[in-house]
Amino acid sequence: MNFTQSLNQPEILLVDDTPEHIETAVTVLRENNFRVRIATKGSTAFKLIEQHQPDLILLDVYMPEMDGFEICRIIKTESDFSSIPIIFLTSSNDAESIKKGFDLGAQDYVVKPFNTSELLARVHTHIKLKKQTESLLKANHELDSFCYTVAHDLKAPLLSLSKLTEYLDLDYSDRLNNEGRELIDNIQDKSKEIIQLVDHLLELSRMSEMPMNIEPINLEQLFWEVYAELIKLEPQRDVKFTIQHLPTIQGDSVMIKLLVMNVLSNALKYTRNRKEASIEATAMENEAEFIISIKDNGAGFDMRYASRLFSVFQRLHSQNEFEGSGVGLAIVQKILKRHHGLAWMTGKVDEGATFYFSFRKD
Ligand SMILES: Nc1ncnc2c1ncn2[C@@H]1O[C@H](COP(=O)(O)OP(=O)(O)O)[C@@H](O)[C@H]1O
Ligand SMILES: [Mg+2]
Repeated sequence: MNFTQSLNQPEILLVDDTPEHIETAVTVLRENNFRVRIATKGSTAFKLIEQHQPDLILLDVYMPEMDGFEICRIIKTESDFSSIPIIFLTSSNDAESIKKGFDLGAQDYVVKPFNTSELLARVHTHIKLKKQTESLLKANHELDSFCYTVAHDLKAPLLSLSKLTEYLDLDYSDRLNNEGRELIDNIQDKSKEIIQLVDHLLELSRMSEMPMNIEPINLEQLFWEVYAELIKLEPQRDVKFTIQHLPTIQGDSVMIKLLVMNVLSNALKYTRNRKEASIEATAMENEAEFIISIKDNGAGFDMRYASRLFSVFQRLHSQNEFEGSGVGLAIVQKILKRHHGLAWMTGKVDEGATFYFSFRKD
């Protein structure tokens, strides 16, 4: 077997303090073409992980100094290492420690003395899962960069197109009949629409890559601020906008402003045909999180299609009825994901919609 081949073999870190256990496990794993490194205590395990990330960790529960649970907890809270799968080696079928292991984020457990084929099956499964997750993440990342590049490269020619039509309108409109002028108007409207869509797409990919700067954000103040900016664009509207006390949260202020902007502009857009529009922002909280809701009395939507709302380009209303690109809520979703929050919506056709998002307190 040559050196490159052996480097391609998955590597397992075995953390155990009993020599007989180590010997059995190492024999089985090496026979099955795994590379194995061994640590007999927590501090050595951390050193080895830092030197080089293993593809999987087999972790004994009971060890002096630091037990397997503590080691697992530390690895799973360290973001660089949290994706390494951990299989606990428990000495008895001890339900309590198995549950504790899972609660701490371990992927699986094997009872000692282990059955060779069971151990191998579990190791293979978790290494395969890890590789699949990694390739999905990579594909996602590539898709994001692709989307960014396409949008970015489209923008310049689109802007020229729009400028050229503007010149056409300015310099030649007196030589055109009504039909010609109408066509120019249409081209201008369409290019505005596409430019806006491209801008939204750029914003969407920026949200995955942008470094975050976490600081306290007074949501109540932010909601008023964003609302004031938006209503300035439609001063003729009669809107009853109310805020029940909203909390201060920890987040990236640029991203959270974009989130509020998208949600409030939806609420304003879909209440446009109401004589008296009403938009109400409220917060609830439990021990771990805030749940903020924005309720409107607008066009609403059919709950059967609620699962589509947060996907790119998915719209439940036609362009004639309500213009839009269908990217806003995808941006909102991405922002919340980066803040470990969730978003969902409820609604009823012709009665209104409520947008909810959760935000962790820590
Ligand atoms: N407040 C709301 N009331 C009714 N429907 C909504 C509301 N907010 C979002 N939606 C629905 O969700 C879809 C996706 O929203 P979004 O991503 O912001 O795209 P856009 O507003 O550009 O259409 C919208 O097309 C609309 O059908
Ligand atoms: Mg929108």
